[in-house]
Amino acid sequence: MSPYLDVTGLNKRFGGLQALSDCSFKVAQGRITCLVGPNGAGKTTIFNAITGFLTPDTGHVAFRGASLDGLSPQRVVRHGIARTFQNLRLFADLTARDNVVAGMPGHFGEEPLGAIFRPFRTSRALAGKRAAALEVLANVGLADRADALVRNLSYGEQKLLCIARILATSAELLLLDEPTSGLSGAALTEVMALLRRLQAEGKTLLVVEHNTRVVQQIADEVLFLHQGHLMAQGSPAEIIADPKLAEIYFGGAL
Ligand SMILES: Nc1ncnc2c1ncn2[C@@H]1O[C@H](COP(=O)(O)OP(=O)(O)O)[C@@H](O)[C@H]1O
Ligand SMILES: [Mg+2]
Repeated sequence: MSPYLDVTGLNKRFGGLQALSDCSFKVAQGRITCLVGPNGAGKTTIFNAITGFLTPDTGHVAFRGASLDGLSPQRVVRHGIARTFQNLRLFADLTARDNVVAGMPGHFGEEPLGAIFRPFRTSRALAGKRAAALEVLANVGLADRADALVRNLSYGEQKLLCIARILATSAELLLLDEPTSGLSGAALTEVMALLRRLQAEGKTLLVVEHNTRVVQQIADEVLFLHQGHLMAQGSPAEIIADPKLAEIYFGGAL
């Protein structure tokens, strides 16, 4: 059986900087895999390479046995992989619900002439999308904020909205870039609970995460990246117990 997500031999150079150096790893279906490592290690670059936002210099990405090499981000989403961004990329002047609708597949540029010549069908399709958006908002605990403008949401609510937006694509593999950064207390607990719930619902998660406590609590598997090299892969306990990795990550004990 082919692996679920199979990344082999990724290399990416930016000018004089080797951002990714022969990175190979697999992600198992149904698990939460945390990608950790210091700032600048190449974590977001790996996400960009998997999701078609950049073309690696060499290397391959396959999902459920199908090659994703050279596909655009839109086509990667159609294969069932969606990602969030470290810097959120929400529309501040739209409502939470409209942000979700805007992220649905085929929304932008969908039959622009059809919208003029078949207004009933278009408005019915849009009503369906708005209803579906409300469902994913409810799934992340934001049903009562559906009509709020993003600019009026708390930072924690905005982080949840980013996850809602990719859930609306129906992707089964979710790549989350620092979903808990900047959060503490109840907001942090809420995102952790959501990630576990998504796993229980059958999603597979690859998560860039800085908070060691979060990694310990949610990860089935940890990938440790340093200066573009995948230094180690193992259980959270194995990674955290490794003094060499602790030295790199914190300059001392974990
Ligand atoms: N588009 C780009 N052009 C030039 N350098 C980049 C680009 N994207 C990332 N880098 C560099 O590659 C390295 C890895 O970046 P990144 O993957 O964002 O790290 P991380 O997410 O682990 O903090 C960093 O040194 C970053 O400055
Ligand atoms: Mg990053």
